[in-house]
Amino acid sequence: MAQASNGPGRLPTEAELTRAGLGLAVEGPVARITISRPERRNAMTGRTWTTLAHIGHTLPADVRIVVIAGEGDIFSAGIDLGMFTPEGVDGERSMVGGILDGSSTGADVEEYIAGLQEGFLWLRRPDLVTVAAVRGHAIGAGFQLALSCDLRILADDAKFCMKEPALGLVPDLTGTKPLVDIVGVHRAVEICLTARRVGAQEARELGLAELVVPADELPGAVDDVVAALLATNAEAAAATKALLQQAAGNTLEEQAAAERRAQVARLTALAGTMAADNR
Ligand code: CAA
Repeated sequence: MAQASNGPGRLPTEAELTRAGLGLAVEGPVARITISRPERRNAMTGRTWTTLAHIGHTLPADVRIVVIAGEGDIFSAGIDLGMFTPEGVDGERSMVGGILDGSSTGADVEEYIAGLQEGFLWLRRPDLVTVAAVRGHAIGAGFQLALSCDLRILADDAKFCMKEPALGLVPDLTGTKPLVDIVGVHRAVEICLTARRVGAQEARELGLAELVVPADELPGAVDDVVAALLATNAEAAAATKALLQQAAGNTLEEQAAAERRAQVARLTALAGTMAADNR
């Protein structure tokens, strides 16, 4: 497990990662994050997400690919349900404690949730390609974590479930936008408001999975995708992801202009390399 960081600040220590139910291995351009609380079916807490945010802020600058998987045969059972008890989990702030005893305002809780969402938002960074490798259940926050990644590679036993509405809650960990972007608002309403399980094959048909493979082939399939991604020029990959991310919000004319600007930057960089090679 590499802990050195060339990025700003230092990566979480092994002890911090363990406390957050996470594993991290950084090897050159690839960072592998493992959700690791097998005794709780990889359920996650607030600390898991603030530590994920910490990882995102301190990854070495040469990391290009982030792979997120669950330990064992499950991705994640979602939020640790202990977070909804007044006492919380392991001394962590409870989601409801402050509201119950009147010590937190709505604004306080929003600010707290914003900090948790940071653990999901960085996965959209254009300089990274993020890959969720999903075995078994990805429930609630687990589904939202997979939705935060650029690519979802599923084992054939994978099951997505947006459980929050069934618990009297809403999905609030940045998953609603990618879900609607991928499946459309009508299917998203049906999936969320029934809180049903979406199996791997259906996920593939809906565009929620880029690839579905037999469970024992998942690590190899992920490695193949990582190798293909690494074969692409890093700067061109980042510029292309940035272009693709803005396409849905742009008019055709705006997008065409964005393509021109990005290409001029690429051509300038290529010309600079050619000039240096000729020197
Ligand atoms: N939180 C805390 N503990 C959990 C947990 C969770 N989300 N999910 C499982 N566990 C614990 C169980 O309590 C059990 O503990 P004990 O051994 O001490 O009894 C242990 O993990 C094993 O669980 P199961 O026996 O249930 O395992 P299973 O393989 O039969 O089922 C499962 C797995 C389908 C994931 C099932 O455990 C389950 O449905 N879990 C709850 C899922 C859930 O409701 N998650 C919250 C979704 S909402 C969200 O994530 C976001 C939000 O903000 C609301």
